[in-house]
Amino acid sequence: MNFERYQIKSYSEYLSKYKKSINTPDVFWEAVAEHFLWHKKWDSVCLGDFKNLDIRWFEGGQLNITENCLDRLIPTHKNKVALYFEPNNVETPTRQYTYQELLDEVCLFAHVLKNNGVKKGDRVCIYMSMIPEGIIAMLACARIGAIHTVVFAGFSAQSIATRIEDCGVSFVIVNNAGIRGEKKLYLKSIVDTALNLVSDKQLVRKVLVVKHTEDAVDMVSERDIWLHEEIAKVKDMGLSFFPAVVMEAEDMLFIMYTSGSTAKPKGVVHTVAGYMIYANYTFVNIYQIKEGHVHFCSADIGWITGHTYLVYAPLSAGVQSVLYEGTPTYPSPSRLWQIVEKYKVKSLILAPTTIRMLMTYGTKPIEQYDLSSLKVINSIGEPLNESAWDWVHNHIGNKHAAIVDSWWQTETGGIMISSFAGITPSQKSYSTLPFFGIVPILLNDFGAKIRESNVKGHLCIKQSWPAIVRTNYSDHDRFKETYFSKFPNYYYAGDVAMKDKKGFYRILGRADEVLNVSGHRIGSAELENTIASCEAVIETAVVSFHEDIKGEGIYAFVVLKPNYKDYLEIRNQIIDKVAQVIGSFAKPDKIQFVVGLPKTRSGKIMRRILKKIANNDIENIGETSTIIDASVIDDIIRNKQS
Ligand code: PRX
Repeated sequence: MNFERYQIKSYSEYLSKYKKSINTPDVFWEAVAEHFLWHKKWDSVCLGDFKNLDIRWFEGGQLNITENCLDRLIPTHKNKVALYFEPNNVETPTRQYTYQELLDEVCLFAHVLKNNGVKKGDRVCIYMSMIPEGIIAMLACARIGAIHTVVFAGFSAQSIATRIEDCGVSFVIVNNAGIRGEKKLYLKSIVDTALNLVSDKQLVRKVLVVKHTEDAVDMVSERDIWLHEEIAKVKDMGLSFFPAVVMEAEDMLFIMYTSGSTAKPKGVVHTVAGYMIYANYTFVNIYQIKEGHVHFCSADIGWITGHTYLVYAPLSAGVQSVLYEGTPTYPSPSRLWQIVEKYKVKSLILAPTTIRMLMTYGTKPIEQYDLSSLKVINSIGEPLNESAWDWVHNHIGNKHAAIVDSWWQTETGGIMISSFAGITPSQKSYSTLPFFGIVPILLNDFGAKIRESNVKGHLCIKQSWPAIVRTNYSDHDRFKETYFSKFPNYYYAGDVAMKDKKGFYRILGRADEVLNVSGHRIGSAELENTIASCEAVIETAVVSFHEDIKGEGIYAFVVLKPNYKDYLEIRNQIIDKVAQVIGSFAKPDKIQFVVGLPKTRSGKIMRRILKKIANNDIENIGETSTIIDASVIDDIIRNKQS
């Protein structure tokens, strides 16, 4: 495939094409869609808008995303590598799959699913670490038309159970155990615990287990099956190729759960055609993909970045992707640079938190590695602060690689605001310009458009784009309420941003009660509910505070019931509870026991004040006259955690 022919090549081309993309989106996206493999072309390009919220792209079209990621590439990429697997331990042999081999594996896996009763529309939960079988499992679901919901392998059993119940999962795929750095993750046993927590014991019929390590697991008879045994059966049956199930453009491809401002995570639904086209087109243009491009996305498949820019977009663009199982610091903080040198990586996706963490080791771990292959360093998930930008630019990109800071969300499916590597200007701390078809707008608290430059506002999007979230699984009302009620007729992202004189956007952080810790999105209500479920706790408020490496840390203010005074013990209980209910990554960094929380007369907790205290910004606490009992603030400040 030659994707270069639909890539923009200059800033002026971006400017003229951008205008066309927003003025005549149907014409624009139709031309892009022509490059893909369809069983039947679409009847219309975009239907529905932000008023009726029945959004449909390429309606009437029929296709399968795996044919576009695999079969379509066979004539040109049959023997080219699609996936390099770099295991956690340096001594473990690496693996690689050509496009043909990956297609073969996906077909065998799809047969296994089918033989075990999985069919189009079924929901399949994937709880796996960063191994090729995780990607193969996703693609096999897509091939058969099952809807995957990948749960990040850091989530707890309780979180898995909640997700399984919410979308009615009937089939689970897991590896017996995973390895990350020095740590073993006993994933199968976590799934066992999760399934015990699911109230409908008939819901999950089968658990397919991938043997990744030598660790033994308990297999529940009638329910649990080994992948290698099932594949052997498929081969014995003489089956190999699996014809892709023909999907409607708007059939669901996957559900990805994400945190919002309420306690329950919501199931973000993406559909086949629009997602695929947008993922591919952003990738090819922003990363300026050329023949033989090697791409390394260090994000986990359990998050949207892994879905879009580790699995679907790179494969659909015929690049060679690197999948790395371990952590950036194992066995040493040189690991990522060793991988870049080994595979001659051209584009690298890094979270700012990883950059800041690696910065603490200085430049020594980098010095002996040749990073000259790197052309694009892409930062995703949090604001990339200036010192991190400088460090990457000077030491990783050696002043020649493009630093691309891309803003987007689980709900947007693909990158929304970003520079295009080496094509459009890149500016420190700015995500810069909107992608084709994206019309950002900044609104003030009253919904009026902010026209001046450098004024903060709510980042909203004015018109539909192909990969926009279609609904929240089985809760369309919540979808309408979350994204379209604060400012009717606009998609509300929940972020605060500003725009400079040149029209470049700078993302400043969340406006709502969502925390962004190491690039992980965590709802404060979700955390508060969990902490409040500890026996000793009356109530709690959770806010974020600035943390040098993680970007944001979690600060919990907790009011205890009378006579609960064993603070150390209660503190441990709270931390254990959060790890058990959500996952270890959501543990509070600071817990302060307080006599009360500052509240308005209507009983609303004044988080604004707590956030100022957590950030040591006590002089700027502001107006406190509306608080019922202002003395609690003095108490909180007096006993603040350093
Ligand atoms: O607050 C923004 C932040 O991450 C949020 C989306 O999180 P999630 O759905 O988990 O997706 C993360 C990967 C796309 C956004 O609402 N965010 C994402 N990218 C950036 C960012 N904040 C600043 N700069 C970015 N480049």
